[in-house]
Amino acid sequence: MAPPKNYNSIPAFHAKLQSARRILAVCGAGLSAASGLPTFRGPGGLWRNHQATDLATPEAFEDDPGLVWLFYAYRRHMALNVKPNPGHHALAALAEKVPGFLCLSQNVDGLHPRAGHPPEQLRLLHGSLFDIKCNACGWIQKDNYDDPFCPALAAAAEDVNPGETLPLLDPSKELADIPRQEIPPCPQCDRGLQRPGVVWFGEPLDEDMLNEVDSWIDEGEVDIVLVIGTSSQVYPAAGYAEQARGRETSVVTINLDAEDEVRRLRSNDFAFAGDAAVLLPKLLEPIIGTPVTDGTYA
Ligand code: APR
Repeated sequence: MAPPKNYNSIPAFHAKLQSARRILAVCGAGLSAASGLPTFRGPGGLWRNHQATDLATPEAFEDDPGLVWLFYAYRRHMALNVKPNPGHHALAALAEKVPGFLCLSQNVDGLHPRAGHPPEQLRLLHGSLFDIKCNACGWIQKDNYDDPFCPALAAAAEDVNPGETLPLLDPSKELADIPRQEIPPCPQCDRGLQRPGVVWFGEPLDEDMLNEVDSWIDEGEVDIVLVIGTSSQVYPAAGYAEQARGRETSVVTINLDAEDEVRRLRSNDFAFAGDAAVLLPKLLEPIIGTPVTDGTYA
């Protein structure tokens, strides 16, 4: 099928945006790529010969909590060492201007909150690297930015000179085993270990959060769904664009690979190929204006 005539026209998108009252965004790792964080399925998706996605399971943690924690401690360290980019700031600014905007993000890197995105207009579908929970009981601690998270994970927080590789990332260098006893135990129960507060493959998402998202979608027609920097392979995130689609809804794909999608577009849809950090400020400009400094908005 031929794509809609104006599918990649910024002025045509701006015309739709001007009258939009209810906007949903579904974000993925591509949004944080311009900040310097690797995506999952593209280059950089490997960590020391492990598929990043193989370490993101309760079984992997049960088997070797030290190894899984090293991977997450390293991701915490990387996330703390980068900044939100103009794409995160543009979404935060949109939230300030449009009360009917809800942002769903699969990203656990803390960059949306650090861009000042109002929490009531943000749902972190897959949790946060900076929440810590118990793997046995319901204990949870929010906003833990310790780096390294505990002394046994110091290798993940080493600083290296530009151009050098962190020894931890070099698969030819042996990793010292981190014994289970060196991972902090749960302070509440005597059974569990502290683990990252992210949702792993095979685990359910927070049910109350999912119910809130469903109710928000059901409240009325969603004018625009922005699908930003995600390969749309993981559910429920991958299903929200179609769930929110009504008669007049425009689903807008913003992705390096967006041109691959154009055959699947419906008549009101748009697809913009490129870096989300560059495209979002331009696409949202009629509502959020132009950035002041560092891609931030007044
Ligand atoms: N701007 C826009 N899009 C980009 C950019 C960029 N600068 N860089 C990469 N992309 C796109 C890629 O083309 C790809 O479609 O971002 C997408 C990233 O896809 P994934 O790596 O699969 O990440 P994501 O969709 O967020 O993964 C979903 O899978 O492993 C789990 O829990 C993890 O939350 C993650 C989930």
